[in-house]
Amino acid sequence: MSQADAASLVRVGNLADLAEAGRKVVKVGAKQIVLFHGANGVYACNNRCPHEGYPLMEGKLTDGCILTCNWHNWKFDLERGETLVGGDRLRRYPVELRDGEIWLDVSDPPPQERANAALASLRDSFRRHEYDRMAREISRLALAGADPLDAVRGAIHWTHDRFEFGTTHAHAAAADWLALRDGSNGTDDAGRLVPLVEIVGHLAWDSLREPVYPYPAGSTPYDAEALVAAIEAEDEAAAAALLHGALEAGLGFAELERPLAEAALAHYQDFGHSLIYVLKTGQLIGRLGADAAEPLLLALVRSLIYASREDLIPEFRAYGPTLAAWDGSGTRPAVAEDFTRLPVAKALARAAESSADPEALYHALLGASAWQFLHFDLAVQDRSDGPVSKNVGWLDFTHEITFANAVRELCTTYPELWPRGLLQMACFLGRNAGFTDPEQDTGQWRVEDGGRFFEGAFARLLDHGEFEYIVSCHHVKLLSAARAEVAAAPDAPWVPTLLAALNRFLNAPLKRKHALRTARQAIAFVALEG
Ligand code: FES
Repeated sequence: MSQADAASLVRVGNLADLAEAGRKVVKVGAKQIVLFHGANGVYACNNRCPHEGYPLMEGKLTDGCILTCNWHNWKFDLERGETLVGGDRLRRYPVELRDGEIWLDVSDPPPQERANAALASLRDSFRRHEYDRMAREISRLALAGADPLDAVRGAIHWTHDRFEFGTTHAHAAAADWLALRDGSNGTDDAGRLVPLVEIVGHLAWDSLREPVYPYPAGSTPYDAEALVAAIEAEDEAAAAALLHGALEAGLGFAELERPLAEAALAHYQDFGHSLIYVLKTGQLIGRLGADAAEPLLLALVRSLIYASREDLIPEFRAYGPTLAAWDGSGTRPAVAEDFTRLPVAKALARAAESSADPEALYHALLGASAWQFLHFDLAVQDRSDGPVSKNVGWLDFTHEITFANAVRELCTTYPELWPRGLLQMACFLGRNAGFTDPEQDTGQWRVEDGGRFFEGAFARLLDHGEFEYIVSCHHVKLLSAARAEVAAAPDAPWVPTLLAALNRFLNAPLKRKHALRTARQAIAFVALEG
């Protein structure tokens, strides 16, 4: 109290009255403060519990200074300021007794101190993934005048080494959530808070109870070809050292994007995720600044190293030879209908026939992807008696669109990567062709006004109600990718098909767990193990 500004000292009553009553609430400006006369002294704290705001005046004081909120049993040590049970810290006010009078120091801590406290508490909320507490702490951060994006930056740093396989959908969706927030001029404060809590909550969820998977230290002078080779060799130590070398040399994502995209497309990696992650990591660093570069790049490189190389599995064995033979001489015009029902090898061969005009071929492939997405046979999702190879669902089709977006964005910048991107789109189409139903009536899903459709879909995302982050994150990724594609080619023939497919997907059931199918496949598999 001695260093407090005299103007912030407020007399709030006398000690004798408080001793008799045991507790009382006083109002100081907008603050509602409760005073306790405990066995160990006088304490003052906010009357609103930091959990859900119920009055602590109704709480129970034990052991002289332990206050229990009777609504949900949170416990606060009024002497030391710790939250013993629960989460958020309780604001206390220093007390001074002068000549039998009670004085409080009601001055607020400096903004930076409040911001640091909010970030520390946000980090603490990760231990149990306390979603509502995350929302409160980010709100406190903003109220302290700090940049609310510091919550995202902090979450990235706190979690990046908790991901055994590097980048996850949480990072990829973060870029789209931030773009949605940036574009929400008409949205209220709550609408602008939702994307931040979704990002932070998803990172917390994905890293929950994970140990630390340390990244290799060390630094080597950066060399783009060496970075691609290190990823190809699955040598994380070498790749991390090159990344550190690049960052120490002052290079940014712009200089690293090309080799990272090349590494992602060196194989048909992880069903398109790798290239999506490269694109989204770049967007995320661009939005958050250089401070986020190192953790995001280390996670990205790790994910590229661990991604499955699907061009090596028999299903995609035609990919490598077709790529090797690609010479850009194929002049046959391509339309979407050419690709909607072809198996992998034929889709690859058909793509090569149109190699002379990559952008026209891209539109044909995206058109076919939109058609497949619109015609996904829902019976496949519901079936419980098929083999593992037929475990196909909605997300296999949504990724055709998000991958296409990454291909266009990155191959337009680096045209030499078109052949890989286009052939991998053809692989996607070939894989999914057998799981469509061309006979179904899709007229009901027609969208008349694309602009209003996207507006409504994004608005609903802000109150999505999906428990699993993976569902809402796919919604934001898919809608963002689709809107970008439509914006880039508003008159393309596939636009109505893509809009109808999105409309159908957003209104169709998404079966996320297959209990019976898993059981049947397990029994069949184990019986053949020998
Ligand atoms: S409101 Fe106090 S513990 Fe919930």
